[in-house]
Amino acid sequence: MSTADTKRPPLAVVILAAGLGTRMKSDVPKVLHDVCGRPMLAYVIDAALSVSPERIIVVTGPDQDAIPEILPVGCERAVQQERRGTGDAVRAGLEPLQGFAGDVMVLYGDVPLVDGDFVAALHQRHLEAEAAVTLTTIELDDPEHYGRIVRDAEGGVARIVEYRDASPAERGIDEINVGLYVFRAGTLRPALGKLEGDNDQGELYLTDAVHLLLDAGHTVASFESDDEEMCMGVNSRVELAIVNAAMRRRLVERLMLAGVTVEDPGTTYVDWGVEVGRDTLIRANTHLLGRTTVGAASEVGPGSFLRDAFVGDRARVVSSHLHECVISSGCNVGPFAFIRPNTVLAEGAKAGTFVEIKNSRIGERSKVPHLSYVGDAVVGKDSNIAAGNITANYDGYDKHATTIGDRVRTGSDTTVVAPVTIGDDAFTAAGSVITRDVPPGSLGVAREQQKNIEGYAERRAARRLREQRHD
Ligand code: UD1
Ligand code: CA
Repeated sequence: MSTADTKRPPLAVVILAAGLGTRMKSDVPKVLHDVCGRPMLAYVIDAALSVSPERIIVVTGPDQDAIPEILPVGCERAVQQERRGTGDAVRAGLEPLQGFAGDVMVLYGDVPLVDGDFVAALHQRHLEAEAAVTLTTIELDDPEHYGRIVRDAEGGVARIVEYRDASPAERGIDEINVGLYVFRAGTLRPALGKLEGDNDQGELYLTDAVHLLLDAGHTVASFESDDEEMCMGVNSRVELAIVNAAMRRRLVERLMLAGVTVEDPGTTYVDWGVEVGRDTLIRANTHLLGRTTVGAASEVGPGSFLRDAFVGDRARVVSSHLHECVISSGCNVGPFAFIRPNTVLAEGAKAGTFVEIKNSRIGERSKVPHLSYVGDAVVGKDSNIAAGNITANYDGYDKHATTIGDRVRTGSDTTVVAPVTIGDDAFTAAGSVITRDVPPGSLGVAREQQKNIEGYAERRAARRLREQRHD
């Protein structure tokens, strides 16, 4: 991390993440809860990285060892031993920054919709104001339980009053403290040292550090935001869902602006990092999750669910589930196919209706069009697996492989009892249970010969008549 602008003072970002998140009712630290496929903290770190700070410190509780595991290289963890409030959390965040003389930006790990532009604007405002602290404020229709901004006669910030400590008149103020700040490290450090927990909660309030700076005559500036979404924090799973929806909308919009047609953005679920090529059509009710990539000029949906799937160009995936698989260019999948991990459909292959394929390779232009299960199999190119074929790959102890060559035509309702090989250009007869290899160019027939019993219907009717007379 380095600064592009050599004139600005060095910048460090402290991200507060030690809060208990009690209202999440979860065993997972709040900042690790998922927003569009990654922990919410990761978005805050991205926003921080975009202003190229010298250091990024994430403040966690002593028991939150899962948090450092997701920190990118260069991000440091500081431990707040006891959760004694936001002022104490920032003090913990400054511990690794001893001797650091510059600006310290404070972000919250549970306010994940902040983006690089927002953080840059806050920083810019701070530099322009030459302030000891710049705090983000916003006017809300429903200011809820946020700290209120009390202004003096000249419109400057006079005080921040926590909701629980506020008088009825102060509670009527609709400008709130968002909680995102830039401080000058040199003035912040001594102020934090003087904090006392003489408030309703007995906590060390970061806002009291702002008051100490005001009392000492320092410049306190405000960055007035009008973007409610950016300032939105997650305290419950209800808010988590709202934040997810906002992030999803951003990600879907990004795809559309990159040339993807999205039929119904409201029912399109896209995880962070998903890529889709231009002129691809994403139809309604489609999930593109994890490390999914879809190429250009393809069509996915309606009603498809892809997780960690790769889909090439000019492919179609209709009403299907794809997990950890590769669907090459020009493939056709669905409707109602289930493509499971380690499956590769080579170029132009097809997996049709009510077809399940796992751990298999289907060769170029080969087709599995209807009602089949293919597992642990390699199918060559230009083969056709007819309706209702099953690879019986499991003997109750082990999985066994099936090998099917090029230009093979299996008959409908063929069961292949693995391990077995069907050679190039071979056929199987419909209804066969294939237990031995079929050599190249041969027809494998493995079923009872048909026998027709003549006059059966007449004899059956006569027998019935006789029985009725005897009754
Ligand atoms: C704080 C502000 C309040 C503001 C609100 C905006 C104070 C005293 N009050 O409220 O004016 O309107 O944020 O959301 O600062 N955290 C720690 N360690 C702690 C306590 C908190 O790391 O000991 C972290 C939390 O994980 C969270 C952030 O600090 O990310 C804010 O904590 P929270 O308890 O939500 O803020 P409040 O004190 O309610
Ligand atoms: Ca909060």
